[in-house]
Amino acid sequence: MISLRLAPLAGITDWPFRLLCFEQGCDCAYTEMVSAMGYVYAPRQWATVTLLTRDPREPKLILQLFGKDPALMEKAAYTLSRTGTYEGIDINMGCPAHKVAASGEGSGLMRQPALAREIMERVVKASAVPVSVKMRLGWDAEHINVLEIAHMAEDCGVSEIAVHGRTKVQMYAGAADWFWIARVKESVHIPVIGNGDIFTAQDALEKLQASHVDGLMLARGALGNPWLFAQIRDALEGREPRTPSLRETVTVLMRHYDMLLGWKPEHIAVSEMRKHIAWYLHGVRGAAQIRNRVNTMKDPNEVKELLWSLVDEVESSGEPSVVAREEAAAHED
Ligand SMILES: Cc1cc2nc3c(=O)[nH]c(=O)nc-3n(C[C@H](O)[C@H](O)[C@H](O)COP(=O)(O)O)c2cc1C
Repeated sequence: MISLRLAPLAGITDWPFRLLCFEQGCDCAYTEMVSAMGYVYAPRQWATVTLLTRDPREPKLILQLFGKDPALMEKAAYTLSRTGTYEGIDINMGCPAHKVAASGEGSGLMRQPALAREIMERVVKASAVPVSVKMRLGWDAEHINVLEIAHMAEDCGVSEIAVHGRTKVQMYAGAADWFWIARVKESVHIPVIGNGDIFTAQDALEKLQASHVDGLMLARGALGNPWLFAQIRDALEGREPRTPSLRETVTVLMRHYDMLLGWKPEHIAVSEMRKHIAWYLHGVRGAAQIRNRVNTMKDPNEVKELLWSLVDEVESSGEPSVVAREEAAAHED
């Protein structure tokens, strides 16, 4: 069966959001990236503890570590893999953010194959759970070395790899190149998870057909849209993918809100939910005004009331409540 994964997304894939994706058929998720150095030196710092939190209802969670110091990566992997909390440890070789990559971490590791090898070897040896690596195609179009790093990972005992079909320099621009993902899949024996630009069930089918990967990893396509997992599973199994109604969307959004409110201080939950609300309402008529109002509100009950009033208004208008996501961008102001 094709594995459907929720990608690691810093600032987004905390346990409440992951849980909603699991409910829609995601079968494996990743934590947001965690600094090995941050963990080793300050394991009880609130920000780190937050990133490490797992809900017991999550069926399969992989912890993602980033760092460039082999000793710190090894130490973090040793300890965290023995907490019984995670099914795997993932090494981040894809983050393109300047402060991460320029200092040699994340995608910066792909420019230093000897260091990347040392980290993979030491983490695999130290970890009590399987180790995976998430990588890009390379630093830039002139330095595509994903095949070399993928072979190296296999050699080091890494159990599977995920490939985002862009270079570091591309950041998130241009189209993900699934040709390279297909070449990686052809040339290693460990499972390969493909990642990049899966926004619809149709995208998933096409990319799977082009690459024959073992799993698909969803990132931006799942924002405000945990239903994408169910839609892809439906398409894979020959059923017509289903679009949720606005009422269903807002019902899930409210659960998301309540989980966050039950976990974090109210002002933080309210602030963090703003971006999620914008994503959930993507494609809904009148959403732009609602978003602007939500962004100034501090009381979660006021936000909830406003969202339910939007549902009532849209339902009583008799118009279809949710337009197709691709069409949505055109309607947004
Ligand atoms: C806001 C944001 C945060 C991200 N955080 C991480 C991260 O913590 N670790 C990681 O490996 N990739 C991270 N990524 C990259 C995604 O996991 C994924 O590889 C990328 O978005 C491409 O997939 P997509 O085209 O489906 O969005 C992040 C991407 C975005 C947009």
